[in-house]
Amino acid sequence: MTRRHGAGTVLFLAAACRGAKDQSVLEPNGVRAESVENLWWLALAIATLVFVATTGALGWAAWRARQRERRSELRATDEGRKMQVAVTSGVVATVVLLLVFFGADLVVGRTLRTPVERDHLLVKVTGYQWWWKVEYPDSLPQAWITDANEIHVPVGKPVLVELASNDVIHSLWIPNLGGKKDLIPSYTDTLWFEADRPGVYRSQCAEFCGHQHAKMAMHVVVHEPEEFISWQAAARRWARTPTDTLAARGQEVFMAGRCVLCHAIAGTPAGSRVGPDLTHVASRRTLAAGTLPNTRGNLAAWITDPQGIKPGANMPPNALSPADLDALLAYLGTLK
Ligand code: CUA
Repeated sequence: MTRRHGAGTVLFLAAACRGAKDQSVLEPNGVRAESVENLWWLALAIATLVFVATTGALGWAAWRARQRERRSELRATDEGRKMQVAVTSGVVATVVLLLVFFGADLVVGRTLRTPVERDHLLVKVTGYQWWWKVEYPDSLPQAWITDANEIHVPVGKPVLVELASNDVIHSLWIPNLGGKKDLIPSYTDTLWFEADRPGVYRSQCAEFCGHQHAKMAMHVVVHEPEEFISWQAAARRWARTPTDTLAARGQEVFMAGRCVLCHAIAGTPAGSRVGPDLTHVASRRTLAAGTLPNTRGNLAAWITDPQGIKPGANMPPNALSPADLDALLAYLGTLK
């Protein structure tokens, strides 16, 4: 690859990343994310400089060697001294660059870690193989929200994320909103972010956590303040008893079958915490932690054959009769 091709590839990749709006470090939202982006550009600039300087020096050395061969020059003593100068300047340049990176890293680390004194929103995220439990703690039990695979926050308000894990080490990474942090079993860590603009951002588990690590995504929805308040009010509401006959039949299928062994629906006898809470499953954007868009057809496929979609996940296959499946889908569709 020539130098021109190398630089072209780097620029192309940078442009491609800039194009991908919903999961990119290069589309920062908020000061913390901006500091991570700046560090990325600094690293790219230094790496480009080192690449150009090294290939340039290599080319020059090769050219010089050929010239000398032609003139049959051999000056051993002179060569020794030059080599010493070259090696010393190489070592000095490396140390200086490492110090620059170290300093920049400290500055960015401090920006990311600094707690906010202002009023903030507390969100508790727990990693499971392979989904995210998302809670909004509150001193009043009826105001406590339990959700899955989506984080909802208001624009312009600092968010403190409390990180925990139920099984192995996972890592929460929302590239547009800030740095990455591990979720470690029996250890609680925290992460701050604050968004300046509304939007929806994809986030991905960034630590290999087993078979379905790639299918452990999440969406972060940044709302306008009033919109967040109405989301919060809806999320606190318990599920209503279905009035429609088909949906009522679906609730019976849910409660009499295996679903109830793992899932909770607030306002019903279902209260298991093994799998994601389904009180508002119909309002989520995706199914199975970002694996499928949340449509009726995908939900039917997921209920019937989760192992075909996400092999190794804890959800077992469910052989329901077409009538029972239809009723169950109608019921789940009411859980907004
Ligand atoms: Cu969870 Cu990778």
